[in-house]
Amino acid sequence: MGREQRSGERTLSIIKPDGVSKGVIGEVIRRFEKEGIRVVALKMLHLTKRQAEGFYVVHRERPFFPSLTDFMSSGPIVVMVLEGDDVIARNRTIMGATDPKKADSGTIRADFAGNIEQNIVHGSDAPETAAMEIDYFFSKLDIM
Ligand code: CMP
Repeated sequence: MGREQRSGERTLSIIKPDGVSKGVIGEVIRRFEKEGIRVVALKMLHLTKRQAEGFYVVHRERPFFPSLTDFMSSGPIVVMVLEGDDVIARNRTIMGATDPKKADSGTIRADFAGNIEQNIVHGSDAPETAAMEIDYFFSKLDIM
């Protein structure tokens, strides 16, 4: 196998502290791989409050920002770069709606999330945010 660029879009996926503590890391990754989505970078880390605030900076004016960034820095997370055709939209379908009460059955959030904040996974919502979010966690050399 060479190191040629494969076809496909990239997105950032995070298994949040609730997903790690509930023991569904493997199950979440299985759902991506089952759909033919490739994991091309992966690591576990524990964000500081400041790092969580930096990641979610677009939400800084929202009332849930302090609580969200407390939650995201409360324990380890798994961050991944996913690759595949149309992977941004496909990942969002696999995750389900932000609010698990509104998520379609069989989605990750419907199956595992406790509430709209502690919702197991994050996924980039557009190509520009995917590029920024991947850059927040990974250098070019980290991505296969
Ligand atoms: P995520 O996809 O990571 O993007 C922003 C996050 O903010 C979202 O998932 C939830 O974890 C959180 N969030 C969004 N809306 C609300 C809300 N109304 N109340 C609390 N948390 C929210």
